[in-house]
Amino acid sequence: SREVIVARTAGFCFGVERAVDQVYEQIGLVEQGKASGPIYTYGPIIHNEEVVGDLAKRGVTVLETEEDLKALPPGQGTVIIRSHGVSRHIYDILEERGVAVVDATCPFVKKIHRIVDEHSRAGEAVVIIGNASHPEVEGIRGWGNRDTKVVENEAEAEDFNLSEGQKLCIVSQTTFNYNKFKELVEKFSKKGYDSSVLNTICNATQERQVEAARIASQVEAMIVIGGRHSSNTQKLYEICLKECKNTFYIQTLGDLDPDSVSSVRSVGITAGASTPKKIIEEVHTRMAEQSFAELLKEEEESTKPI
Ligand code: F3S
Repeated sequence: SREVIVARTAGFCFGVERAVDQVYEQIGLVEQGKASGPIYTYGPIIHNEEVVGDLAKRGVTVLETEEDLKALPPGQGTVIIRSHGVSRHIYDILEERGVAVVDATCPFVKKIHRIVDEHSRAGEAVVIIGNASHPEVEGIRGWGNRDTKVVENEAEAEDFNLSEGQKLCIVSQTTFNYNKFKELVEKFSKKGYDSSVLNTICNATQERQVEAARIASQVEAMIVIGGRHSSNTQKLYEICLKECKNTFYIQTLGDLDPDSVSSVRSVGITAGASTPKKIIEEVHTRMAEQSFAELLKEEEESTKPI
């Protein structure tokens, strides 16, 4: 029979899973009359249209801008903050509106908020290594002050200047590439600043990649599930393809040609960061069923009269 291995790290990371669960929990509470509706999320809870569409059907509205928050009817409803987190002033706006807040900021991101808050209050300059337009980085920056800067590349690191006598604190966007982070930190240390470096990169992405490579190297076929435009899924696919030439990139079960894997004896499954568990389970079940069907066929063949 066939062996099917599903990566433990397939799909949502801890922080995203927790945030999505919190939205469903709120829906339940509102339905039972234990929390105040309507439910809003500030930004889509996850980059997956299917999930966001399902939530919309259950009455969850996505608020896109600060203006949307400011226009909320006072004292009504619940706003859920997603795993990326938000600036301090967003909490102020929500408080001013008098709405209930469910804070699903990933604890790893929350930790960066605290670091930036403390170090900037202590008069230090803070550098966030990351992409300035990423919502997580915008949120982190919003816990600092005028001396909090975002640096993404060597040119920006080169241009950075610290005031006389000021200390520097360096943190990172959780999904930043570790080698690039190291290179940029190196640039700052060459400037001879008095600095503290806090590596706040989250291991979820790397762990998912390492596990995917390990499984792909052990199986006859590998299935990678995720959105066509999801860059972390594309990366997973490349990594798996290196280890297993029979690697398939699918968005949902429907994309999988059953014949392509019908004769393999071992299948590995992994999925990108925004792939819901339901889709992973569907693919898993189908792969396991298929092997069951094969098994029955073998059985029938072996019991045929000679
Ligand atoms: Fe996910 Fe939190 Fe890490 S949202 S990628 S577990 S920082």
